[in-house]
Amino acid sequence: MDTGPAQQAPIVARGVRKRFAGNARPALDGVDLTVQAGRVCALLGGNGAGKTTMVRILTTLTRADEGTVRVAGWDVVGQATQVRASIGLVGQYAALDELLSARENLELFGRLAGLNRHRARVRASELLETAGLTEVGRRAVGTFSGGMRRRLDLATSLITTPAVLFIDEPTTGLDPQARHDLWASVRVLADAGTTVLLTTQYLEEADELADDVVILREGAVIAQGTQEDLKSLVGEPRWELRRPTLEDVYLHLHATRPAGAPAS
Ligand SMILES: Nc1ncnc2c1ncn2[C@@H]1O[C@H](COP(=O)(O)OP(=O)(O)O)[C@@H](O)[C@H]1O
Ligand SMILES: [Mg+2]
Repeated sequence: MDTGPAQQAPIVARGVRKRFAGNARPALDGVDLTVQAGRVCALLGGNGAGKTTMVRILTTLTRADEGTVRVAGWDVVGQATQVRASIGLVGQYAALDELLSARENLELFGRLAGLNRHRARVRASELLETAGLTEVGRRAVGTFSGGMRRRLDLATSLITTPAVLFIDEPTTGLDPQARHDLWASVRVLADAGTTVLLTTQYLEEADELADDVVILREGAVIAQGTQEDLKSLVGEPRWELRRPTLEDVYLHLHATRPAGAPAS
């Protein structure tokens, strides 16, 4: 039965498998993932873990070999158009016009998203403000630092306030200050109620931003839960003065499960 976007979790993936031709091992080997409305979920894993492949499948850009995926209530294969209308995607590489100013880029994206000239201008102002770029709004994007670009890229994906936002490695390659600024932008979104799935290689980033964490290794989920769930895996803090961090969870998982072993 197809009920459309009823009260179901905005991201539901079951048994997702994907193998690229010529690769010995699958990029994704039966991934289950659920993200509830309004949550920020971090898909955490090293290089080649399958993060980008998962995001591409969730955003209709790549088709899974097996499994079912619903985003914003729609099936990513049979109802790709509806999925695309409901989501925003910030990829690993920005699609900005270097010669245009930040404001012009935002107005252009607004027009492409179907806003009239006036609405596009108003929305551009709002988004420059959210991204902390009002002061530099008239500067050509070609002169922007990596951190400013990432924030502008994030802003362009918010033109129409998507129900679900995907961000692939938001801060890879950024310096610490730019990273903190971007974290602040993501938090503004999360506080406004947008459901966010972000991928990251950094424990610190997941720790900082995510309500829920899914740890991916070699295409398989090796642990998932709220930050508190995962940290409790490591045990109660005893005589130690500090609470467990995600890094403890990571070390614990690696110590107790050999690479490639099933999650349960
Ligand atoms: N288009 C592709 N063709 C062949 N192999 C790919 C392709 N995209 C990804 N892979 C492989 O799939 C695995 C997962 O890649 P990816 O999803 O990019 O991981 P991550 O984003 O976590 O670094 C890697 O082994 C990678 O080499
Ligand atoms: Mg990637």
